[in-house]
Amino acid sequence: MADMLNGFGNHFSTEAIIGALPVGCNSPQHVPFGLFAEQLSGTAFTAPRADNKRSWFYRLRPSACHSPYKPYNGNPLLRCSDVPASPNRLRWDPLLIPDVPTDFINGLVTYASNGDVAVGTGICIHLYVANQSMINRIFFNADGELLIVPQQGSLKLVTEMGVLHVDPLHIAVIPRGIRFRVEVLDGPVRGYVCENHGAPFCLPELGPIGSNGLANQRDFETPVAWFEDSDEPHELIQKFQGRLWTTTLDHSPLDVVAWHGNLTPYRYDLRRFNTMNTVSYDHPDPSIFTVLTAPSDTAGTANIDFVIFPPRWIVAEQTFRPPWFHRNVMSEFMGLIEGRYDAKSGGFAPGGASLHNQMSSHGPDRSSYESAIAADLKPYKIIESMAFMFESRYVLCPTRYAMESPLCQPDYDNCWSQFKKARVTHD
Ligand SMILES: [Fe+2]
Repeated sequence: MADMLNGFGNHFSTEAIIGALPVGCNSPQHVPFGLFAEQLSGTAFTAPRADNKRSWFYRLRPSACHSPYKPYNGNPLLRCSDVPASPNRLRWDPLLIPDVPTDFINGLVTYASNGDVAVGTGICIHLYVANQSMINRIFFNADGELLIVPQQGSLKLVTEMGVLHVDPLHIAVIPRGIRFRVEVLDGPVRGYVCENHGAPFCLPELGPIGSNGLANQRDFETPVAWFEDSDEPHELIQKFQGRLWTTTLDHSPLDVVAWHGNLTPYRYDLRRFNTMNTVSYDHPDPSIFTVLTAPSDTAGTANIDFVIFPPRWIVAEQTFRPPWFHRNVMSEFMGLIEGRYDAKSGGFAPGGASLHNQMSSHGPDRSSYESAIAADLKPYKIIESMAFMFESRYVLCPTRYAMESPLCQPDYDNCWSQFKKARVTHD
C-alpha cells in the first residue's frame, strides 16, 4: 500500500499526480490539469477553529454530476429501530457467513439505534457479514461517520481520499459523506459498525494522565491521495435519514486526484493502545480504556464512546478483579473481536454482541464471579483478547431483527441466576 499520513486531526496535503494540488488558493480560477475544486464540510462553516473540519478535493468531475436518487430496496435490514426499546439484557451469537453472494452494503444488519438522526444525535449500530467485494458499487453515509470494527477477514476500503487496509484489531473511521467501496481481500468478513450522527469522534482528554497515553495521536493513519479514472457505470448508494437511496453514474466517483484538509478517513491499530490501569487496588471505571469519544452537548457525557478491553497486566491487590456488578446511566453495546471477555465464562463469542441498556443490572456471570473471589491475586496478563464497547448517553433501541433473530440468546439472564445469598449474622 502507498505511504500513509500520520496523526489525528492534522491538516494534510497529498496529490496522486505531481502538480495536481493548487498552492495557496483553495479554489483557483484554473485548477491544475483542469480538475474541479470541491469542498467537503464536516462541521458548520463557523464551528470553532479547534473543532472545524473540512477538506478540499481536486477531482476529475464535480460530485454533483448525478441523476436523482431513488429508494434502494436491496437491504431491508439496514434501518432504524422499529420496535419499543427493551429494558432486558440481550446477547447475540455471531452472524452467520451468508451462503449467497453478499457485499458489504447488503451484508449490513442494524441491531440498535438511538437519538434522532434528523437533529444529529445518537447512533446506529450495525453488524456486517460479506463474502464478495462491492463491484462498481459505491456507498456513502449522509447520516453520520462510520466507525468500522472488523472481527473476521481483511477489508480494503477504497475511498475518495485514498485506500485503507483494515484487518481485525484495526478500526477505521469514514467521515460522513465520503464515498467508498469495500473490497473483501481474503475470504468472508464479519464485523461491527457504529454510525455516529453527532459531533465527530475525537480523542478523549487525558487530564492527570498527562500528554501521552491511551490512543496516541501519532498512531492514527490517513491515506494518501489515490484515484481511478473509470467511465464504467457505477451505482452510488447513500444512507439518508435512515433510508437507503440509489442512483447510477456513468463513471467512478472515486476520482479525487489531490486533496488537502483535516476531514479524512483514518485507521488505528488497537494493538498500539497504551493501556492505563490500576497498580494498587480496585477496578477503575472502563472509561480508562476510551479510544475515541464523540461528545454530546453535556460535558463528559458522550453521544458515543468507543472503549476497548485490550490485553493487559492485572495486578490489583485485595480486589475483585473482573468488572464489578453495576447499573449505568449510559447504555452499553459490546462486541468481541477475539478471545474471551473476562466477565463472562461462555456465551459471548467473537463476532457476538450484547446490550445492557440504561439501568439494567449486569456484571460478571456466576462462574466468573466464583473464580474471581477464589483467585490467588498474583499478577497475570490477559492475552489474545479484545472486547469493545459502544457506550452511549441515549437508550439503545434494538431493531425487530435483533429482537426476533434466532441469534438472540433466550437464556442470557441465566448468567446471573443461582448466586448464593450473602449470609449476614446479627450479634
Ligand atoms: Fe457494563
